[in-house]
Parts: sequence; structure tokens; C-alpha cells
Amino acid sequence: MPVTRSVQDYIRTIVDFPKEGIMFRDVTTLFADPRGFRMAIDQMLHPYAGERIDKVVGLEARGFILGGAIAHQLSVGFVPVRKKGKLPGPTISEHYTLEYGEAVVEIHDDAIAPGETVLVVDDLLATGGTAEAGIKLVERLGGKILSCAFIIDLPDLGGRARLEALGMDVHALCE
Ligand code: PRP
Ligand code: ADE
Repeated sequence: MPVTRSVQDYIRTIVDFPKEGIMFRDVTTLFADPRGFRMAIDQMLHPYAGERIDKVVGLEARGFILGGAIAHQLSVGFVPVRKKGKLPGPTISEHYTLEYGEAVVEIHDDAIAPGETVLVVDDLLATGGTAEAGIKLVERLGGKILSCAFIIDLPDLGGRARLEALGMDVHALCE
């Protein structure tokens, strides 16, 4: 009998990357598998069937891969939230900390129209610092966030609780 693999089965763990003590959950093995990638996109979209979504916002870098596929599936626009200095046009920015460092992210200041409904997408939720920065950027432009979608939630790092405390709806495919 063929065994059906779940999304989790395609994710590998790299120990001590990018710093000692970090168990890095690597989704490139999921993305590289034709069934795994399709399954992940389908399952990430499932909670939003019938919902209005005007824009998908993807968080650099793996959120671009997922967000691009999701936006294409929904036939809506895709907007990147990028690390500082990468976007060519006028931007707004937010500083944040994450499990293994700190950074600044930016969005083009005309990327979201006031009142647009947004789905925020990334591969992994850890401390929630990255997602919170992305949420703040969208909200500063007047966007309304429907939900935040991830493949992986690391609950011990508190990201889900942090986003829910901001009033966010959070979906992840596995912990
Ligand atoms: C990883 C991951 C999320 C973020 C989650 O990205 O893809 O974006 O960390 O961590 P947090 O919830 O603690 O903020 P990373 O910062 O490694 O950047 P990259 O995708 O550009 O490699
Ligand atoms: N981002 C923050 N923590 C991470 C982890 N453990 N694996 C992959 N990406 C991460």
C-alpha cells in the first residue's frame, strides 16, 4: 500500500544553522518535491475558500516562493516585504528581532491601497518578529489583514500568541 506523506514529512532539520543551538527547519526539500509543494499551497489556501483577498504579502525570502504561488492561484497581486535596501522605489520600514538576530524590513509605500484585504504569507513562525513587522507595514498603508499563513509554527517561541494578541488570525500546517 502506498503511504501518503504529509507536508511535515518533506521538511528537514539542519542542526546549528545559522548559529549554534538553532534547529533550522528547512523547507527547500518540501519546495523541491512536486507533490509536496502542491500539497503545501493547497493546504495553505484551504482556510480561505470563499474569502475575499485583494493582495498576498510575502515575507522575504521563502514567503516569496509561497506567496507567489498562492497569489497566482487566487489571481490576485503579490507584494514583497523585503530586507532593508532591496526595494527600488519609495518605502516605509520596520525594525524587528527574530530567533537568531535582528533586521529591518521594507514595503513599497504604494504597494497596498487603503482598505485592501491582505493575506500575509511566510514559511515559518518563530518569535513572530518578522511577521509582526510585516503586519505593521501593511497596516500603516491602510491594508486590512485577513489572516497570516505559515507552513510551520514553532509554538515554544511564542509567535502565534504574539500575533493573536494583535488580533490576528493565524494558520499553520504543522508545528
Ligand atoms: C526566517 C523565516 C521567517 C523568520 C521567522 O527567515 O523564513 O521569515 O525567520 O522568525 P521570527 O518569527 O522569529 O521572526 P530569516 O529571517 O531567516 O530570513 P530569510 O528568509 O531571508 O533567510
Ligand atoms: N526562523 C527562525 N527560526 C527558524 C528555524 N528554527 N528554522 C527556520 N527558520 C527560522
